[in-house]
Amino acid sequence: MTEKISTVDELFIHELQDLYSAEEQLVQALTKMASAADTSELRSGFARHLEQTRHHLRRVEQALNEVGEKPDGTVCKGIEGLIAEGEGLMTATTFGPVLDSALIDAARKVEHYEITAYRAAIAKAHELGFNDAAALLEMNLQEEELTDHRLQQLAQGMMPYSGPAADPRDDGSEVIVGQSVHA
Ligand SMILES: [Fe+2]
Repeated sequence: MTEKISTVDELFIHELQDLYSAEEQLVQALTKMASAADTSELRSGFARHLEQTRHHLRRVEQALNEVGEKPDGTVCKGIEGLIAEGEGLMTATTFGPVLDSALIDAARKVEHYEITAYRAAIAKAHELGFNDAAALLEMNLQEEELTDHRLQQLAQGMMPYSGPAADPRDDGSEVIVGQSVHA
């Protein structure tokens, strides 16, 4: 980017470009994560989210079209970093339940990043009157929230011990907050 972002409109477009890049990178990453997972539930969970992610990419592209833009090759550095971290962990972890646990943790970090990014973009879309773009982004947000919730439940199911690793505050409430806001 050569020129500085100086209006909320430009910031919104930048956020959409960033989200497009994030979803594009995640199509690749989720393919690898699905093949690295040991349990069939986690493999099918990643495979399902991979399909959703392909839809997310199309919806973000549609949202860009709504504001007269197209993907411009912006790279989402945040997701790039989270994927690099996850790949490092995948290489460093023994195949099996511990790797599955690492994959879930890495995937949830990505979901939380995306949830925050979608919420920020949706707020700007409404503020700027891009209601069709907001509706598209909202569909993605709801699927990200649900995915995070499902991953949290999978993580709980994989940890039969209720020792210090299980955080009782982590009840998947992200999705509940999202539903109450958008109900
Ligand atoms: Fe997504």
